[in-house]
Amino acid sequence: MSDSPSDGTVVSVKDLHKSFGEREVLRGIDLEVAAGEVVCVIGPSGSGKSTLLRCVNLLEQPSSGRIDVLGVEVTDPDVDIDRVRTHVGMVFQQFNLFGHKSVLENCTMAQRGVLRRSKGEAERVALANLERVGLADRAHAVPGQLSGGQQQRVAIARALSMDPQLMLFDEPTSALDPELVGDVLGVMRDLADAGMTMIVVTHEMAFAREVGDRVVFMDDGLVVESGPADQVIGAPREERTQAFLQRVLDPTHQHPQG
Ligand SMILES: Nc1ncnc2c1ncn2[C@@H]1O[C@H](COP(=O)(O)OP(=O)(O)O)[C@@H](O)[C@H]1O
Ligand SMILES: [Mg+2]
Repeated sequence: MSDSPSDGTVVSVKDLHKSFGEREVLRGIDLEVAAGEVVCVIGPSGSGKSTLLRCVNLLEQPSSGRIDVLGVEVTDPDVDIDRVRTHVGMVFQQFNLFGHKSVLENCTMAQRGVLRRSKGEAERVALANLERVGLADRAHAVPGQLSGGQQQRVAIARALSMDPQLMLFDEPTSALDPELVGDVLGVMRDLADAGMTMIVVTHEMAFAREVGDRVVFMDDGLVVESGPADQVIGAPREERTQAFLQRVLDPTHQHPQG
């Protein structure tokens, strides 16, 4: 795996289909993400956003199509997926921290187990990333002592401690109380500004518009519309995009999680 694929493409998805039993939930997705690009994926609950993200690092096995990540075809049956995953950070709606381990240990375990870093080196890297997300002073707390927003920032620091070349976010702020969302989005904005390649599934339209280089609107297993964030969110061409945005931008509308 090269540090930067020669043509600058970090993720390439071609004609991706995914079925669960009889139900086809991805019906031919194409997506390219270039190095340093931030692509925000929006769309109604059930449209296949999480499934798409999960196919990118083979948490779901695609039914057909081709996916390349960091210059490696992950849909090749012989792929060493663990090696690819080492370079891909994933942050979910649920933080999945170990509750009985300290914040610092949560951020060093995979570094030590997967990257074989020494304890000292892993702690140095973890503390630098906790600093980056504003939580270096909570390194010795356990997750239960932190707010949901702080726990999500720990999850981001944990992912960053693996030196990922790609970050996948699946609705990282959807489970948070509204007043805690801003800090997490702020961390993600800093990461984008630092040049990280990111795919972000989000319901935060202001964030998508401001931070996203590109916005992809999915509905019913298809990419309905994709383009510059200002265009897709500010002046959507497709009726389905317009209807969705009207619903989510309506301040009285409570979007369901998923
Ligand atoms: N493991 C699974 N088994 C069966 N159906 C699934 C599974 N995961 C997702 N689905 C279905 O696939 C569709 C798309 O789900 P998902 O990708 O989670 O959508 P989104 O993230 O856009 O809300 C939904 O109808 C969902 O119920
Ligand atoms: Mg989802």
